[in-house]
Amino acid sequence: MGRQTGKISGNRARLETLRRHEAPNVTFVDPDGRWPVVWARARGPWVWDVEGRRYLDLTAAFGVAMAGHGNPGLVRALRGQIRELIHGMGDVHPHVRKIELLRELSRITFERWTRGRRAGMEGRAILACTGFEAVEVALKTACRATGRPWVAAFEGGYHGLGYGALNVTHRDLFRQPFESQLRRFGRFVPFPAREADVPLVEACLERLHRRHGLGAVLVEPVQGRGGIRVPPGSFLPRLRAWCDARGVLLVLDEIFTGFGRTGAWFACEHAGVVPDVICLGKALTGGFPLSACVGRSDLMEAAWPPSQGEALHTSTFQGNPLGCCMALAQIRTLEERGLAERAARLGGWLMDRLRLLEPARGLEYEVRGLGLMVGLEVRRSDGRPATPVVWEALKRMRERGFLLLPEGAEANVVAFTPPLTISRTALDRAVAALGDALAGAARQLARQGGKEA
Ligand SMILES: Cc1ncc(COP(=O)(O)O)c(C=O)c1O
Repeated sequence: MGRQTGKISGNRARLETLRRHEAPNVTFVDPDGRWPVVWARARGPWVWDVEGRRYLDLTAAFGVAMAGHGNPGLVRALRGQIRELIHGMGDVHPHVRKIELLRELSRITFERWTRGRRAGMEGRAILACTGFEAVEVALKTACRATGRPWVAAFEGGYHGLGYGALNVTHRDLFRQPFESQLRRFGRFVPFPAREADVPLVEACLERLHRRHGLGAVLVEPVQGRGGIRVPPGSFLPRLRAWCDARGVLLVLDEIFTGFGRTGAWFACEHAGVVPDVICLGKALTGGFPLSACVGRSDLMEAAWPPSQGEALHTSTFQGNPLGCCMALAQIRTLEERGLAERAARLGGWLMDRLRLLEPARGLEYEVRGLGLMVGLEVRRSDGRPATPVVWEALKRMRERGFLLLPEGAEANVVAFTPPLTISRTALDRAVAALGDALAGAARQLARQGGKEA
């Protein structure tokens, strides 16, 4: 790891070109030259930069490369598809792979969830390109199905950055610059951390419902970008019951948590809750911008009239054949290799291992997670988020050959969302290195004046 084989200037020179030609707000380039790295290729859990340095990717590149980067099954399927059909006509002339994927999405969601029940369900989907677009399709679905535009979402929640999704993404940093253009149909309620918080959430929802008449409640079963926040086990079942009693739709955003990440195919399965609508993206394809909003058949029929030639929601690349083909291969791979079960086993082990870390002087650690979606929150002894320590530690980790991201509004949660194929040995090395990196970062910042830490 971290072996230097290429030109010293490779990374720096390319970042300079990036800096000149990409809008300034996109990529953070640290003036100290320690972040970011320019990726050249990736395989399994490994990424190589343009200088030939190898890194262990503990992010699965935003949780996408669930079966590893360049998974051979995906690459094989993609090669075949490239020869056959690269682009289709989304909502006009459907192609074979799109029809197959729609069938699969129904099978792995509503059909699986209700198998053996008297009233079995099927799913109907609208395919889209990005996660936020899938969320926006869900918002449109809820509005059309209920006639009520108001949506309750959760503090700390992240659903993407399109103008529709921004109404339900909580963080001010993203909303404030565009506040004047937002429709404001979203309202926020607290996300529960403990069992005792759930009645408070219900009371807040009740107030909102009385005031506005909610159409939907939108929630991540585990908040990812919000800082790997896992709600208590009773939360989703009670939310389901609350929604049922009032005719409000329960929309789950499983864009991050879906496809085995949390140790089950979908995180809602831990609680045995069937949503009305589920949003999927990221690991759906393992590396192609394709997402889906899958709803109960009857609900989708109520929400969306038969097309008369113009779809109410579509786009040029809707249901792209390469994306559909990758999604089919990804679903096959995850099933055949039992990767959700692997995530459950490895995730439990990883959390135990992280809990053995001795907190660096002046810091406190909290470990939480579900499956291989694990966070280590770092605070100062006075309770304040230790953001500078985390940031310095992640740069040190990068230098040692490990890629990690901070999550949470304060960016003080070190997130582990690696490919589910990662080895226990590699994870063990990463945890040991993180312990050292945090200790080193804490010492350095204390030397520089303490206040910053
Ligand atoms: C839970 C959740 N929803 C939606 C999104 C937005 O997805 P995208 O970035 O593909 O638009 C994300 C992205 O991180 C996410 O974590």
